[in-house]
Amino acid sequence: MNTSTTTTGIAASGTGAAASDSATVTRARGVERLVTGQATSDGAGVKLTRVLTQDLQRRLDPFLMLDAFGSDDPDDYIAGFPDHPHRGFETVTYMIAGRMLHRDSAGHEGLLENGGVQWMTAGRGVIHSEIPQQEHGVMEGFQLWLNLHSSEKMNAPWYRDFQNAQLPKVTTADGVAVTVIAGDSHGVRGAVMRERTQPLYLDLHLPRGARFAQPLPAGHNAFVYVYRGEVVVGGTSVPSQRMAVLANDPQADGVVIEAGADARVLLIAGRPLKEPIVQYGPFVMNTKDEIYQALSDFRDGRLGETAA
Ligand code: FE2
Repeated sequence: MNTSTTTTGIAASGTGAAASDSATVTRARGVERLVTGQATSDGAGVKLTRVLTQDLQRRLDPFLMLDAFGSDDPDDYIAGFPDHPHRGFETVTYMIAGRMLHRDSAGHEGLLENGGVQWMTAGRGVIHSEIPQQEHGVMEGFQLWLNLHSSEKMNAPWYRDFQNAQLPKVTTADGVAVTVIAGDSHGVRGAVMRERTQPLYLDLHLPRGARFAQPLPAGHNAFVYVYRGEVVVGGTSVPSQRMAVLANDPQADGVVIEAGADARVLLIAGRPLKEPIVQYGPFVMNTKDEIYQALSDFRDGRLGETAA
């Protein structure tokens, strides 16, 4: 695992390469439970499925939320997410299909398109909007929330976006196409690295009959979300639109995912922070007092300030 403090790096050398090193996993994690997401809406009425809900925040520390959105009905997404604040964590948006424009109070702007990723560290605070740039067609993607350590929650905001062609990719000997959004896989370094939480965020396209092995540190929390087809993880079938929470087996050194038919899955893992989590809507801090501070900073117009 790379522990560099460098926050970004596009592994151009890995893009499109065929993996010669087959990752070795000698004892694979099992599935602890399957989770069906909850249908909800957010922003100005965007319909979505909350896959990782608040009751799983401790179990899946450092991850706070995973939303899946996907619809070909503009009424489900057209209103988008007008100006709203965040403090204390990072948001990672992965757009499978569609176009969404991001603008924030730190001066960042980016158009997120098919296969692109936007990584935003809210830190001490941003106010941003995420507005669809299409009036018809499919919009599909994911937003993951990744917590920050208490010592990093009040850091300056940070933002990067990556078009699909800029994302590090690798194809395994089994023909599994891997997009490495964060962390390391099969010798390829991800688009974003984080030292504290060491997130691994892979999008895997598995052809029928393929087997994919990924080493994982035993202490990291991990889950798989299937968004096309069906896979088998540690002997358990995981159908489409389900999250499999991987067991924390101290003897296990990774995960093995097998596809009986073509499948697409997200594999996400990270090192837990083991700190108190206090969430109030778009603010995630360690204490209630810090939440009150965030609310008063927002009310007083101080939350989106770029100066310290
Ligand atoms: Fe947001």
